[in-house]
Amino acid sequence: MAKVLLITGASRGIGRACVLRALEHADTRVFAVARSKDALEELAQRDADRVAYLDGDLTEQGTCAEAIRQCVSRFGRLDAVVHSAGLLKPIATIADGDLDAWRRLFDVNFFSVLELSQAALQQLRQSNGALIMINSGASERAYHGWGAYCTSKAALKMLTMGLAAEEADVTSIGLLPGRTNTDMLATICNEGTDSMDPATYDTFKKGRDEGSIHAPDVPAKAIVALALHARGEQWNGRNVLWNDADVQRLV
Ligand SMILES: NC(=O)c1ccc[n+]([C@@H]2O[C@H](COP(=O)([O-])OP(=O)(O)OC[C@H]3O[C@@H](n4cnc5c(N)ncnc54)[C@H](OP(=O)(O)O)[C@@H]3O)[C@@H](O)[C@H]2O)c1
Repeated sequence: MAKVLLITGASRGIGRACVLRALEHADTRVFAVARSKDALEELAQRDADRVAYLDGDLTEQGTCAEAIRQCVSRFGRLDAVVHSAGLLKPIATIADGDLDAWRRLFDVNFFSVLELSQAALQQLRQSNGALIMINSGASERAYHGWGAYCTSKAALKMLTMGLAAEEADVTSIGLLPGRTNTDMLATICNEGTDSMDPATYDTFKKGRDEGSIHAPDVPAKAIVALALHARGEQWNGRNVLWNDADVQRLV
């Protein structure tokens, strides 16, 4: 039976690469979510029988429930949710952080993940499915100027562990994609100069300029492998790197 993956952040970067990777497996179906309709339509045009989408803002009332409803209505089941939608900004010290910008970031990086997970649980319990949270090294290490992002990702890590403690029939995993060449990296390089620690900023800038930061299809292979195959106690509640040996065995 075909496996059905719901992927957020599907218009760009890591989420889009996950959609393309999932379509390389003949027996998958993808339900894609993001705000940029043109980008989602382009994905659907690639294989209209296997890709459907909802263009919507995950932080708006009703979007999460509607995404699950349309996904199940179209494909009949749900096997995994890949939560890739995310924001880095505001980049500012904690002392100077704008509270509304922090709340906006938490709405995207944490509360929409919580709401979409809640909406998906009933289907995922039935399918012994998985929740894959795209997390970051910033969940475990403080970066100067990234207070909002780091705290949201630390909260996401605990959400993953909490779901694992409570939901025995669903596998919840945090996946750290490593530094990846996406619009988020461009934001760091273009807007991180004032608030980031200069030595850390330089590692991102140099990595991008030298082309040593991997493309989104690299972590996407690991993410889709987890979404399709990682199940049970061995995985539940872990926050793992994309190149962890256990993960790579599934790719
Ligand atoms: N890039 C890295 O180096 C890196 C490293 C570690 C972790 N991560 C994590 O990986 C994930 C993906 O990052 P990325 O680098 O691929 O970022 P990206 O290229 O900036 O893409 C972000 C995605 O999130 C979607 N999005 C943002 N706000 C949304 C909203 N309110 N509702 C619905 N969709 C929304 C965007 O789609 P629309 O604008 O079309 O809505 C877009 O598809 C994030 O969770 C990030 O924290 C990235």
